[in-house]
Amino acid sequence: MIKLRHSTVDDAGAIARVQALSWQATYRGMIPQDYLDAIDVDAWAERHRGHMLEEPEGFVSYMAEEEGEIVGWALGGPNRDQRMIFSAELFTIYLLPGYERRGIGRMLMNAVARGLMSLGFESMIVWVLRDNWAAREFYEALGGAYVVRGVMDLDGTDVPVVSYGWRNLGVLLEATDQGSGHCGEAGREGSASG
Ligand SMILES: CC(C)(COP(=O)(O)OP(=O)(O)OC[C@H]1O[C@@H](n2cnc3c(N)ncnc32)[C@H](O)[C@@H]1OP(=O)(O)O)[C@@H](O)C(=O)NCCC(=O)NCCS
Repeated sequence: MIKLRHSTVDDAGAIARVQALSWQATYRGMIPQDYLDAIDVDAWAERHRGHMLEEPEGFVSYMAEEEGEIVGWALGGPNRDQRMIFSAELFTIYLLPGYERRGIGRMLMNAVARGLMSLGFESMIVWVLRDNWAAREFYEALGGAYVVRGVMDLDGTDVPVVSYGWRNLGVLLEATDQGSGHCGEAGREGSASG
């Protein structure tokens, strides 16, 4: 059974592992292979640890666990681009390869929406690689509306990205409550199967 809980600094290593394995499985063919091959999980972990130790305000971060193993992670917070109408941003949502399509992403989105709303955020945007069709369909299935395209600079390589937004986080909450058995709230057990 999947459990969601808030992230702590001790999760930095597991977060980096999930993120790295997910990047390498998902982004093959979308970003330069050299970049994927050179991912340094320890360096990523250190970066996460540093960020978490700063205890920045307005961020929500959730882990998905199954039988003690970390299988997913999602992070939201204030939109980096304050000129946009979306007050919050989903920075990351990653599952360990093999854990997709069991409703865990939906549960994490529910927790993020709930957490951001409790901090006073009303809307949210997410940027996704243009060619990451699975994730795009995921956001669309949860009520995200296409916003605009852009470009991400990855160590000097331009990678096309697009964005999806929820003008009202309540819509995301509703979309994720429906399929998640109302168990998306952090700290409670979820009903994702598989
Ligand atoms: C994208 C991701 C977070 C989605 O989480 P998930 O647990 O696999 O998705 P869920 O099972 O909660 O799916 C919810 C709904 O989204 C849609 N959906 C999810 N994955 C889909 C896919 N591959 N193709 C089409 N629709 C999809 C479906 O409507 C699904 O509902 P259903 O299963 O009842 O049909 C996860 O697959 C993942 O980590 N992928 C790799 C990393 C990644 O791309 N992250 C996003 C970076 S921007």
